[in-house]
Amino acid sequence: MTHRKITIAIDGYSSCGKSTLARQLARHLGYRYIDSGAMYRAITLYFIRSGIDPQQPQQVQEALPQIHLSFALNEQSGDSEILLNDELVSHAIREMLVAEKVSEVAAIREVRHFAVAQQQAMGKGRGIVMDGRDIGTVVFPHAELKIFMNADPEIRVKRRFEELFPSNPALSIEEVRKNLELRDYIDTNRDESPLRKADDALILDNSSLTREEQLEKVLKWVAQAAS
Ligand code: DC
Repeated sequence: MTHRKITIAIDGYSSCGKSTLARQLARHLGYRYIDSGAMYRAITLYFIRSGIDPQQPQQVQEALPQIHLSFALNEQSGDSEILLNDELVSHAIREMLVAEKVSEVAAIREVRHFAVAQQQAMGKGRGIVMDGRDIGTVVFPHAELKIFMNADPEIRVKRRFEELFPSNPALSIEEVRKNLELRDYIDTNRDESPLRKADDALILDNSSLTREEQLEKVLKWVAQAAS
């Protein structure tokens, strides 16, 4: 690939396939993939474990400096996995308990500043794909390629249910639907960096695209943005 390395920002609602696309792109292009949602989830996990009340600013302020987040490459899967204070927490952060609290935690200004500063530092060298809710608007406003993803709400519920059910057979589809609706609502309506499409983002609705079709389409955008 002779094109220059660029920054790719992917934003969108919960469970519309952002991380799948980001992973596909990172593998195909040899870029780093950073899941910014995993960072908010890991912070939430820390708060839950340490009994931090997100509504108590003093508790939040004192807790943040105790949190060290890093990513390590899993050689087998090729995925980058998140560590919270050197403990691998990729599975723990997918628990429903974390999903239920994460939007509340991610709405806190201090938490966002803490995470965004680290995300921007990771993106310094370009050659990065990052997905989240504010990547094209706040974290990398100058990204060469910004994608805003969406998919039919029922398809998103089904995808998330199928992802969570194997490790949580007691889960009902209704619980998943409620959680997604609530998270979308909080993520879109919060004061701090709400989810919105950047003016220069390209829209990708993948409701009826296969993974291969999606990748093919976006690789054309990458080639244009990198030329
Ligand atoms: O992508 P995800 O579902 O793992 O994200 C978890 C939560 O974190 C989501 O409800 C919104 C929040 N988030 C955010 O506010 N900003 C980001 N850049 C990424 C995620």
